[in-house]
Amino acid sequence: MLDFNFCNPTHIVFGKDRVGELASLVPENAKVLITYGGGSIKKYGTLDKVRDALSGYEVHEFGGIEPNPQLATCVKAVEMIKAKEIDFILAVGGGSVIDATKLIAIAAKYDGDDYASLIKNGFNPAPVSEALPFGTVLTLPATGSEMNAFSVISDDTGKYGVYSPLFYPKFSILDPSLTYTLPKTQVANGIVDTFIHVVEQYMTFPVDARFQDRAAEGIMQTLVEIGETCIEKPEDYDSRANFMWCATMALNGLIGSGVPQDWSTHMIGHELTDKFGIDHGRTLAVVLPSLLRQRKDKKEEKLLQYAERVWKLTEGSKDERIEAAIAKTEAFFHSLGVATKISDYAIPREDLRDIIKQLESHGMTALSESGDLTLDIVEKILDEAY
Ligand code: NZQ
Ligand code: ZN
Repeated sequence: MLDFNFCNPTHIVFGKDRVGELASLVPENAKVLITYGGGSIKKYGTLDKVRDALSGYEVHEFGGIEPNPQLATCVKAVEMIKAKEIDFILAVGGGSVIDATKLIAIAAKYDGDDYASLIKNGFNPAPVSEALPFGTVLTLPATGSEMNAFSVISDDTGKYGVYSPLFYPKFSILDPSLTYTLPKTQVANGIVDTFIHVVEQYMTFPVDARFQDRAAEGIMQTLVEIGETCIEKPEDYDSRANFMWCATMALNGLIGSGVPQDWSTHMIGHELTDKFGIDHGRTLAVVLPSLLRQRKDKKEEKLLQYAERVWKLTEGSKDERIEAAIAKTEAFFHSLGVATKISDYAIPREDLRDIIKQLESHGMTALSESGDLTLDIVEKILDEAY
C-alpha cells in the first residue's frame, strides 16, 4: 500500500427530513446566503423547507448557478456576499451548486481581483488561506463534492479542476427523498459518474490495498444492483439511500487512500463537456470503455480482478475475460439509458481534433497512473470511442 494522509472533516447528516435540523448546524446569528441552481429547489419545495428551518436567521438568496458553473457567476455571488456582509453560505443543489459555492467561499476572502488565478493551479492548492464557512444540502448524488475538497469551475478558456483543503463543507445534509424529483437522465448521470469515480481509483495496478479494493468493488456491485430501481422507481427510498451514500463514499478520499489513481477519463471528459456541452457523467461513459481497451496491458491484473469480483467472469482466456468485463460495463451504462459512443451525440469526427488541442493547451499531455498516456494515445481512445 502507498503512504497517505486521510483527514475528512465534513459532518454528514443523513436521512429523511433532516433539513429541519439546519438551525443546529448553522452558527447562531449567522447571516446566511443560500446558493442554488436554475430553480429546481423552488419548484419542488426544497427551498421552502430550508427557509422554514432557518426562520430565526437573516437569509439571502443567490440563484442561477448553471450546470458546469462559470467563474463569472461565482464572482457575482461574491459581490453580494460583500454587500450583505454574509458570514455563512448554504449550498442547496447538486455538484454544480456545491462546486460554485466552494469557489465563492474562497473568493469572498481573497484580497486580489484576479479571480481566474484561483482556478488555474492544476491540482495544487488554490492560493488562499481563508474561506467563508459553508454547508450543503445535496439534491443530486453524483460528484461527491458534498464531502470532498474539489471543485470544477469553467471560464471562457476551459473547465478546471480546483483543489483546496478549505473546500470541505462544514456539514452536508443527505436526504435521499430530496432526489425523488430528479429527471431519469440526471439519475443515470449520477450513477455513471459515481461508478467511474470508483473505477479511476481502482483500475490501475495492484498495491495490496485489500480494503480499498473491496470497498471499491462493493460500491460498484451496489450500483449495479440498484441502478435500474433508481431509474424506474424514483420514490424507492432504500435504493436512493444506497445510491446517495455510494456517491459520497466514492469520492471522499476513503477508497483513493494509499492506491495509485488514473483520472484520464475525467480529464478527457471535461474537455468533451467544454467543447460539446455533453453532461459530465455522459462524457465519462463514452471515454472509459475505449480507454480500458487501449490500456488493457497496463491494467491487466486489475481488469482481471474486476472481471472476477464485480462481474463473476472466471471462464476463458485473460483477453476474453477482460473484453467480457468491458462489455458488461458498457451494457450496464446502456441499461441506464447512457450511450457509450461519441457518435451518439451527433458530433462530427473531425471536431475531435479540438479535444487534443484543448488537452495540450491545458497541460494534460501526460495522463494516467504512470504519466505515460500521451496525446497520441488519447487520439486512439477518441477514435475508438467514436
Ligand atoms: O439547476 P437546477 O434547477 O437545480 O437543476 C439541476 C441541474 O439542471 C438538476 N437537479 C439537481 N437536483 C435536482 C435537480 N432536478 C430535479 N430534482 C433535484 N433534486 O440537475 C441538473 C444537473 O445538476 P448539476 O449540479 O450540474 O449535476 P452534477 O451533480 O452531476 O454536477 C456536475 C458538475 O460537477 C462537476 C462536473 O464537472 C460538473 O461541473 N464535478 C465535480 C466534482 C467534485 N467537486 O469533486 C467531481 C466530478 O467528477 C465532477 O467533475
Ligand atoms: Zn465525475
